[in-house]
Amino acid sequence: MSSPWKALRVRSATTTIFAEMSALAVATKSINLGQGFPDSDGPRFMLDEARAAIAAGVNQYPPGRGIAPLRQAIAAHSARHYDLSYNPDTEILVTTGATEALAAAILAFVDPGDEVIALEPFYDSYAASIDLAGGTRVGVGLFGPDFRLDHAELARAFTTRTKAILVNSPHNPTGAVLSESDLAEIARLAVRHDVLVICDEVYEHLLFDGAVHRPLASFPGLRERTVRISSAGKTFSATGWKIGWAMSTPELINEITAVKQFLTYTSGAPFQPAVARALNEGDDWVAAERRALQDKRDRLAEGLRSVGLEPLVPQGTYFMSTDVTTLGYPDGVEFCRDLPRRCGVVAIPHQVFYDRTAAGAPYVRWAFCKGDDVLDEAVRRLQTLRT
Ligand SMILES: Cc1ncc(COP(=O)(O)O)c(C=O)c1O
Repeated sequence: MSSPWKALRVRSATTTIFAEMSALAVATKSINLGQGFPDSDGPRFMLDEARAAIAAGVNQYPPGRGIAPLRQAIAAHSARHYDLSYNPDTEILVTTGATEALAAAILAFVDPGDEVIALEPFYDSYAASIDLAGGTRVGVGLFGPDFRLDHAELARAFTTRTKAILVNSPHNPTGAVLSESDLAEIARLAVRHDVLVICDEVYEHLLFDGAVHRPLASFPGLRERTVRISSAGKTFSATGWKIGWAMSTPELINEITAVKQFLTYTSGAPFQPAVARALNEGDDWVAAERRALQDKRDRLAEGLRSVGLEPLVPQGTYFMSTDVTTLGYPDGVEFCRDLPRRCGVVAIPHQVFYDRTAAGAPYVRWAFCKGDDVLDEAVRRLQTLRT
């Protein structure tokens, strides 16, 4: 139900599919493979550090840009993994998750009438933030079954009104990782059309089969026009902490900070020292986690295959997709609404991430960042689909 006072600006901000499906999961006692959160927590030393911070009185407003040790750790992580240097005093802003960094960047740079290109299907907060800014989103398809970028469509998406391109790789919901040639083409077009590049890199470490993450900011001419956004949520299995960050030039970070001040002012004091420590000391934990996640990916892929759903096996993220029309369903929405009651499992239909909904209609997204026992039980329940 919506109110007659609802502003047009927030027309796309309805209850998210994640909330709807998670509520359905609870109501039907289903296994929730819908929302992308892991069911085990991050490294022990990180959790202990947050507890110690609370006990030591780190409970009041931290500095608006984030505590210096966290900004230093973010800078050191970027230099160590990607050879990309940022000045922790002027080029890094700590935010309330990547979601706030994305919203603040879009609000800071997008005016009514501006176009923002984004890879379609899009993560749901992009549409809402672009609408809040009064901008227009222009989708460039990563369509199934191979979820590859069409370079001709990408080139056509740039117009004189394009203000920014929002790039998410590894990509939610498809699990696609953009290739070197995709990235080079985005970089070339961004420079040629003189647009801002906003990179959502929250899945930067969740990569499989030797895939690598190369930040767009490392391409020639991109460092000075790119805002890199990531967060601790996925990397350190702490999605509820909502500690994220943005990295860019001092000028762009100043503009994003100006907006962030009036969205949340500051972010999660006791979590900041803990995330700083995880960034500095957590590389081995992250590598082990990535191997474990790849095993889970393969476990669920095999399970889905065994029930007649051919998985589109991803190179990154928490998610894999299947075409459910092979089971006789007209589309993923109907399948996902039916699934909890039919066999006690929740998944998310791709369609809700698309403007061109027909392209997403056949597909459903399954999260595999769950315990092996949970994945096995989900597959056991899905077996009933065959009967
Ligand atoms: C592509 C993408 N960007 C951003 C986020 C949100 O990140 P955070 O929880 O740090 O706000 C998510 C979470 O699922 C995501 O999938």
